[in-house]
Amino acid sequence: MESDITLHVDGHERTLTVDNRTTVLDALRDHLGVTSPKKGCDHGQCGSCTVLLDGRRATTCLTFAVANDGAEITTAEGLAADGELHTMQQAFQDQDGFQCGYCTPGQICSAVGMLDEAKAGHPSHVTEDDGPVELTDAEIRERMSGNLCRCGAYVNIVAAIRQAAS
Ligand code: FES
Ligand code: FES
Repeated sequence: MESDITLHVDGHERTLTVDNRTTVLDALRDHLGVTSPKKGCDHGQCGSCTVLLDGRRATTCLTFAVANDGAEITTAEGLAADGELHTMQQAFQDQDGFQCGYCTPGQICSAVGMLDEAKAGHPSHVTEDDGPVELTDAEIRERMSGNLCRCGAYVNIVAAIRQAAS
């Protein structure tokens, strides 16, 4: 069975017809040619397909497109505005937060979403007190633990998130 849906991707309204079993990741990559979200595992285990979906980070390989009809999607490409890199993109560049770069679009979207979650006071597994979240390295690592980097650029990814948060 197929459905007609609309997705708002990086500020552009896109209409498409998808098999109801199509994930948001496949809709973006295969139907719309938006290739910054990467298919690493296709099982929700690596985070490389992460985008901001209605403002929250989401692993798009686990999310059906038809269930997100009308959604606002921001990919790593869409974070840049008016020819200027997003603060997080600039920080990853300044801190050498990537090597092969395969995981980087997902890392950057996840980092942007993570800072918003921390700012809103959402606790993580390692948060000890109620109230404002102190972004320690342990907090950053825990909140980014769903994003794997096979190159092991983690130290510089933490430094980049620290820079963007400051
Ligand atoms: S491709 Fe989605 S989490 Fe790995
Ligand atoms: S930079 Fe290569 S997988 Fe992360």
